[in-house]
Amino acid sequence: MQRSGIRTLMELALRDPDCLRLEIGEPDVPTPPHVVEAAAADARAGHTHYTSSVGSPELRAALADTVSAATGTAVRPDEVIVTHGAMHGLAMAINATMGPGDEILLPDPEFPNWRMAAVAAGVGVATYPARAAYGFVPTLEDIEAAITTRTKVILVNSPNNPTGAVYPAELLAGIVALARRHDLWVFSDECYESITFGVAHRSPSVFDTDARVIAFHSFSKTYAMTGWRLGYVVVRDPVVAGLLGQVAEATIACPSAISQRAALAALTGPQGAVRAAVDSYRERRDAAIALLTTRGIPCARPDGAFYLMVDVSAAVADGQEFAKRLVAEAHVAVAPGEAFGPGGAGMVRVSLASERSILLEGLSRLADLVDAWGGAADRGVVVGARA
Ligand SMILES: Cc1ncc(COP(=O)(O)O)c(C=O)c1O
Repeated sequence: MQRSGIRTLMELALRDPDCLRLEIGEPDVPTPPHVVEAAAADARAGHTHYTSSVGSPELRAALADTVSAATGTAVRPDEVIVTHGAMHGLAMAINATMGPGDEILLPDPEFPNWRMAAVAAGVGVATYPARAAYGFVPTLEDIEAAITTRTKVILVNSPNNPTGAVYPAELLAGIVALARRHDLWVFSDECYESITFGVAHRSPSVFDTDARVIAFHSFSKTYAMTGWRLGYVVVRDPVVAGLLGQVAEATIACPSAISQRAALAALTGPQGAVRAAVDSYRERRDAAIALLTTRGIPCARPDGAFYLMVDVSAAVADGQEFAKRLVAEAHVAVAPGEAFGPGGAGMVRVSLASERSILLEGLSRLADLVDAWGGAADRGVVVGARA
């Protein structure tokens, strides 16, 4: 298993106490206080025991209601499996649906942990391009061209990490139809579902007529709850739902009881903090793009999630090399585009969830370095993510 290139940068950054950290993918705000208070009270009240392997009945019922309202399809509580985060759900689903010789199709650029989960499960990985020229939105033709007899799963991730692309409904409908034609599963990583800027998030599950879409959700980003480790899987196929329950029992016994209480409080309590966070990411996105545009550095305008892909290839062709020198010379950490696959080459990923003044100072130093190494003379167009 290859190490994630983001980790390598993180370790360099950790050795430098003055480093501005723009490589991390988590909200800069704490978990909303009402969630923390509810969980503390519930811990005192004795919610500290094992629950069902697939989650407590109250939380599953609340999640089924939430998903039903969001998708317009009636989802039952037994179709919801509570997990230790979206990645845990994804890793379990790979184990439940795939075996040796099977392949999962990932978008390129990719979130590296998907590949790590596949490698850990002993299954193969192939990719389909999500090209920068098309705003990082893949085409059905490119996805279909990547399908082979080994393909078992197409993974989609919208809003996307690392590109911020939000896929249009027609594309998602097309992917589900494609999967039906080739008899494949669709894994939909929806961990940024709540974070979009003026465009709607659509789940491919709304186009699913035969239970082939498995959706992975998370409390990490929506509610600033990364360390609580809580997410859930929506799975309509009863055999896979049963297998996920067995894998959960064999691996974690059950999701953390107290994190499930916190999740219930987050889900059923006031949603103001979620809206405020999204507004703030949007404002930071606009400020970041304005700064880069003024400095003549191309970037792709994200419609969702909280990442910005910045093209630094005019300075250094290799984003990895650029990111290392940026830490060493300007004390700014960003994630090298190559850490997300060949589709990220020559770019770096900047987290918009970083504190605003740190974000803008970091980008300004990045622009200085691009100027110093490559000159910004005749560039300066922002590539619209939905151009
Ligand atoms: C695309 C994507 N999927 C999954 C995760 C992990 O989510 P969780 O914390 O719920 O495991 C992340 C976290 O960065 C992510 O970016």
